Formats: sequence, C-alpha cells, structure tokens
Amino acid sequence: MQPLNVPAVERIVILTGAGVSAESGLATFRDSDGLWEKHDPMQIATPEAFERDPALVYRFYNARRNQLQGVNPNAAHRALAQLQQEFSGDVFLVTQNVDNLHERGGSNQVCHMHGELNSVLCRACHATQRVFEDYDGQSICPRCGASGKLRPDIVWFGEIPYHMEAIGARLSGCDLFIAVGTSGVVYPAAGFVQEALLGGAHTIEINRELSAVTGYFHHQRHGSATVEVVALVAELLAG
Ligand code: OAD
Repeated sequence: MQPLNVPAVERIVILTGAGVSAESGLATFRDSDGLWEKHDPMQIATPEAFERDPALVYRFYNARRNQLQGVNPNAAHRALAQLQQEFSGDVFLVTQNVDNLHERGGSNQVCHMHGELNSVLCRACHATQRVFEDYDGQSICPRCGASGKLRPDIVWFGEIPYHMEAIGARLSGCDLFIAVGTSGVVYPAAGFVQEALLGGAHTIEINRELSAVTGYFHHQRHGSATVEVVALVAELLAG
C-alpha cells in the first residue's frame, strides 16, 4: 500500500459507486455478474423505456428496493460513516448508489445524485415521497391523489443528476477527493476527479480494478472496499 502523503486535509469529498455495496451482496452494473450484463439499460433506465414498457420498469425497481431488506451495510459503509462522525474537518459523501446502505451504516449526510430506491416521484405534482411498498401504473400519489403518475425517483440515462450545484461547490473547495468502487464511465460523476484536481485537491481511487479515469488519481489502491476503505479511514483519523 502506498503511504498517504497528503498535506493537512480539512475538506474531503468521497464519491461512491456500486463497488462499495458489492460486498453487501448487491450486484454492480458492469462486472461480469452485473445488472447491465443481465438487463439492457436502454430497456430499463431511460425515460423512453418507461414510456414503452412501464410494467417492466416498475418490476425492476420494486425488486431492487425489496432486495434491500435482505442485505446489510458492510465495513466500508461503516468506516465512511465513522470518518464523517470523527474527522475534525468536513466530509461530504456523494453516492451514485440508489440503495440505503450508507445511511444504514451510520452516515449522517449522503448526497444521492442518482436518486433513491426508497423514494418515488409523482409526475403530476413533482413531489417525492418515501416508499417502502410496491407501486405500479395504477398507484395513487399520496400527495396529490393523481392516479398512474408515480415513477421511480431514479435519475435515468439522459436525465440530469440531482444536487449538481452543491456537488460542484464541494469539489472545487476540497483538498482530498476519494472515489470508491466506481468504474468511471458514467458522467458527470466520472468527471468529478478532474473538477477536484482543478481546485488543487489530492485524489485517491479505491477500486478492484483500474477505472476508466484512473490516470487522474494521485494514488490508486486496488482491492476490495471493505479492506481498503477501512485502512484509509484509519490513516485519515490517525492524522
Ligand atoms: P459499475 O458497475 O460501473 O462499477 C463498479 C466498480 O466497482 C467496478 O470498477 C468494479 O471493479 C468495482 N468493484 C466491484 N466490487 C468491488 C469491491 N468489493 N471493492 C471495490 N471495488 C469493487 O458501477 P458504478 O460506477 O457505480 O446509474 O456505475 C455508475 C452508474 O452506472 C450507476 O449509478 C448506474 C449505472 O448505470 C444509473 O442507473 C443512472
């Protein structure tokens, strides 16, 4: 492992992807057993796919939300929560994941840029609601009463991720940027490392394999998130 040779760190931004939840039992998207190996994302994760075959899209996201009940946060989620609670400076956690494992691992702030499985969006009143039960094309919006207007509160391909302004401000102001478990192929998240670099940040990648943007990182730590994140958090808390 390369030593962490970073001058005084005060503001950290952490970007997580599907790899941080892999050891909890949730499939990633692009690994050999990944979700997009089994399903065509263009048939599920686009507004056009939802228009074409809403029943398929409801089934996919209801199943993924139900799957959360059978999995638990792992040591990487818990270590990142510990960093947020104990680090003397600021730690901003932004995730591409739509699961709830960071929160269940103890994180007190999580920015879900791609939405959440436990949230539903009404296309009539535009309100979001927490959701824990299955819903479909007949469901009624609990806020406005519209029928058949609920959709998964997930940012699909072709849509703009949430909270981009707040994320941009954090990236340009951070002195350490850490990406965990993301392949670096989906933008804008894949470009966050370059934004952080422009602001002068030190950059660290933790991933099982080289990501598509690995060349932008000062340090690469290749291995599983549960091992590498726990080790890095211990180093950061030791000062
Ligand atoms: P990917 O499936 O593209 O990448 C996951 C990365 O995690 C891969 O590079 C793996 O090598 C790595 N990995 C797997 N297991 C790991 C482990 N135990 N420890 C560390 N690394 C591990 O997932 P994302 O990059 O998150 O968007 O995908 C980005 C977006 O593409 C997702 O948010 C999703 C998807 O389409 C939407 O659905 C809008």
